Amino acid sequence: MNPVYDKLKQCYTSFRDKIDFKPKIALILGSGLGGYADSIQIEAVLNYSEIEGFPVSTVKGHKGRFVFGYIGGIPVVVMQGRVHYYEGYPISEVVLPVRLMKLMGAEVLFLTNAAGGVNYNFRSGDFMMITDHISDFVPSPLIGENMEELGLRFPDMSHVYDSELQEVIRKTAQSLNIPLQEGVYIQLTGPNFETPHEVKMCRIMGADAVGMSTACEAVAANHMGMKICGISCISNLCAGMVEQPLTHEEVQETADRAAPLFQKLITETIVNLAKSI
Ligand code: HPA
Repeated sequence: MNPVYDKLKQCYTSFRDKIDFKPKIALILGSGLGGYADSIQIEAVLNYSEIEGFPVSTVKGHKGRFVFGYIGGIPVVVMQGRVHYYEGYPISEVVLPVRLMKLMGAEVLFLTNAAGGVNYNFRSGDFMMITDHISDFVPSPLIGENMEELGLRFPDMSHVYDSELQEVIRKTAQSLNIPLQEGVYIQLTGPNFETPHEVKMCRIMGADAVGMSTACEAVAANHMGMKICGISCISNLCAGMVEQPLTHEEVQETADRAAPLFQKLITETIVNLAKSI
């Protein structure tokens, strides 16, 4: 018996007892984007606290619930609030929601987040499509006995972010006249922001944006064979790139300001994705 798998099955049973809905796309909303879930055609809502054993986020501004509904006619499950490794949960719990959404039926995972810009060409408020990630600063969620029911022991990671989905995002942004950066996301543990030299390290390693989520979720989803795409909202430039100290409020404010455009990009992308999945 594997306790991680047992807990996942327990959460799945608890979900199925309450909700009869099969999503095609799973969407995780990052900081500032939570309100988006209220704008979709909602069929059902399930608070994380109603799911037996489910990890509940403690971050201010993160609601904790699944919203089930339709975007452009496509059945979706939207996570309004995620849990982060820095909250103290084991990494297996941090990715439990992603695994659960796969069990619900989702084949595509659409990740969003607020991230710090490491690339000097980026500006606060930019959007960056994630083309790859560096996740080695947090433990792999695949450590421990492999759950054969979910995927392989040694999954390939050559193309975590699906190239067809990337093309859909690119074309969608173009058609909406929304400038879109592209780059590599690096996940650090947080919750402290980086020092200037840690930011320099990220840059030397090839990262364009840094955050405290997302990559571990992509690792778990890739393990399960989901098609993955992701967009970061660059909520700030990182330490050492600007004079003023960085605050969570600044991150939140920029993300809030960028939200309407971000939402438009997500909606249109999902509508366009429907044609290719
Ligand atoms: N660093 C790490 N995570 C973040 C940042 C940052 O500058 N901004 C938003 N999330």
